[in-house]
Amino acid sequence: MKVIRNVAGMKAIRKTLAEPVGFVPTMGFLHAGHISLASQSKKDNASTIVSIFVNPTQFGPKEDFDKYPRDEQRDLAMLEKAGVDITFLPSAHEMYPSGFNAWVEVEGITTRLEGAVRPGHFKGVATVCNKLFNIVQPSKAYFGQKDAQQVLVIKKMVSDLNMNLEIVVMPTLREADGLAMSSRNSYLKPDERKAATVLYRALLKAKEMRRAGEHNAESLREAMTELIQAEPLAKIDYVSIADAATLQELEHLHSQTLVSLAVRVGEVRLIDNVLLP
Ligand code: PAJ
Repeated sequence: MKVIRNVAGMKAIRKTLAEPVGFVPTMGFLHAGHISLASQSKKDNASTIVSIFVNPTQFGPKEDFDKYPRDEQRDLAMLEKAGVDITFLPSAHEMYPSGFNAWVEVEGITTRLEGAVRPGHFKGVATVCNKLFNIVQPSKAYFGQKDAQQVLVIKKMVSDLNMNLEIVVMPTLREADGLAMSSRNSYLKPDERKAATVLYRALLKAKEMRRAGEHNAESLREAMTELIQAEPLAKIDYVSIADAATLQELEHLHSQTLVSLAVRVGEVRLIDNVLLP
């Protein structure tokens, strides 16, 4: 595996790779969820590139950019073992040299859910992904359903701006007790780690109610809210039952429903979702 740390070097080596090229953008501190994206890319493509870049422009001023977990040596060992061809590890200065002044903004869906709580977040995500796509020029890029709204934003950007790649979405990988794998889980203290299962339990509750024939979205929201409020360490940011394409909140469930939530467990903000049915 080659490790490339600058844009010019990445563009140069890109020209030598066997086609098609698959790409997995990440912020590092890798877990099995990230590796599942790389493994799928290995199956689908002749070459696989993974990027590790903790993107400063997608963090708000009061968010965890400075303390976001980082472990380059461990990440590189995991990617080497997964058979990745190239890891792209640019510095912030490589990606945002002084005077940087061009942004990608996807309107509409970014005003809801994560976008409502984290203003500017998706502008940072869309911009960095556009830059990475331009540098890496992949045929396919792999994203996790764990970040459902991010998937919608990236797909909309690719479609509206006629970008030449396909977005492949992979299922959410979970720990044995249902907690969605996330780099931020490493922040959780032992009692918080136990409490964090409340997100998945709330999603399962919604699934069960739907299976039992419940069609009223507010009943699902109420049941999920009640379940989470019973956990003293958990504080709800939002519980959403929304149209899976537009993210508009629903009154009645229909065929494409995204059940999603953001919950603070102690200081740690966690998100998760399931698609219904
Ligand atoms: P990061 O949080 O590192 O996630 C990188 C990719 O891994 C994303 O597509 C995410 O949805 C996926 N992923 C995370 N947890 C997962 C899980 N438990 N199961 C399956 N896939 C999972 O998302 C970002 O980085 C950034 O916003 C990025 C797209 C790299 C732009 O900076």
